[in-house]
Amino acid sequence: MSEMSEKSELSDAAVIRTSGLCKVFRSGAAALPVLEAVAFSIQRGEMVALVGESGSGKSTLLYLLSSLDRATAGNVTCAGRDLTAMSDAEASDFRNRSIGFVWQFHHLLPEFTAAENVAMPLLARGVAAAEALPTAVDWLREVGLEARAQHRSGELSGGEQQRVALARALVARPAVLLADEPTGNLDARNAEAVFTLMNRLHRDFSLTSLIATHNLDFARRCSRVLKLGSGGLQEVAPQSL
Ligand SMILES: Nc1ncnc2c1ncn2[C@@H]1O[C@H](COP(=O)(O)OP(=O)(O)OP(=O)(O)O)[C@@H](O)[C@H]1O
Ligand SMILES: [Mg+2]
Repeated sequence: MSEMSEKSELSDAAVIRTSGLCKVFRSGAAALPVLEAVAFSIQRGEMVALVGESGSGKSTLLYLLSSLDRATAGNVTCAGRDLTAMSDAEASDFRNRSIGFVWQFHHLLPEFTAAENVAMPLLARGVAAAEALPTAVDWLREVGLEARAQHRSGELSGGEQQRVALARALVARPAVLLADEPTGNLDARNAEAVFTLMNRLHRDFSLTSLIATHNLDFARRCSRVLKLGSGGLQEVAPQSL
C-alpha cells in the first residue's frame, strides 16, 4: 500500500458508507424502485436520524445496512465491512457480531425472562450461559431494569420491553446500532425515556447509530439528519425540520 492511500484510509473514519445503492422490488413483471443511487456516509461516533414519509424506504435501507436484504445494485459498507459480496454465512456472522438492531416491535420471547432474552445474542455465538446471563444482568442494570431481570419479558410494560430490546441489541458490543422506529409503538413519556436512553448508550459505548424515526423532535436532537424522499436521499439541517 502506498503511503498516500494508507493516509487516506486512516483519515476516513466512515463506519457506514453507500454508493450508487439501488433496491428494486419485483413482483412478476412489475418493478418497484425504492432506493435509487443512494450515496451517503456516516462517521464513527455520529448519531444520525433517518426520516422520510411512510414508504420512502427507511426500513429497506436499514435491512440493506444490516445485511438482512441484498441491494439490487451499488455498494454498502457497514461497521467497516463491505457487504456487497458477502456470503449468507458471512452475513449472518456479521449481523451477530457487528450490528445491534432495535425494531419498532421489540420481538422479545415472552416466555423467557428479561435476562434470558438479553443473553440470546451471546448464547447464539457460543458463550456459556454461566457467563452470558451475568453479562445480560449487567446490561439490564445499564437500562435501569436490573430488578426485572428474572421477570418474564411478557410481563413487562411496552417501554420496559423496548429497554430490554436495547440491552439485547448491545450485549454483544456491536460497533453500529441500527434502529427502526424504536419509539413508534410507545406513548410520549415512554418514547422520551427510550430515546434519552439510546442517546446516553450511544455516547457511553462510542456507538455509531442510525435511527429511522417519524418523530421530528428526536431527529432534531441527532447530530445529523438524512431524509429519504422522491428526490432520493438528502442531508437536511436538524434545525430545519
Ligand atoms: N419485500 C418487499 N416486497 C415488495 N415491496 C416491498 C417490500 N418491502 C418493502 N416494499 C415496498 O418498498 C417501499 C418502501 O418500504 P419501507 O418499508 O422501506 O418504507 P418505510 O420508509 O420504512 O415506511 P414506514 O415509515 O411506513 O415504516 C414501500 O412501497 C413498500 O411497499
Ligand atoms: Mg419502516
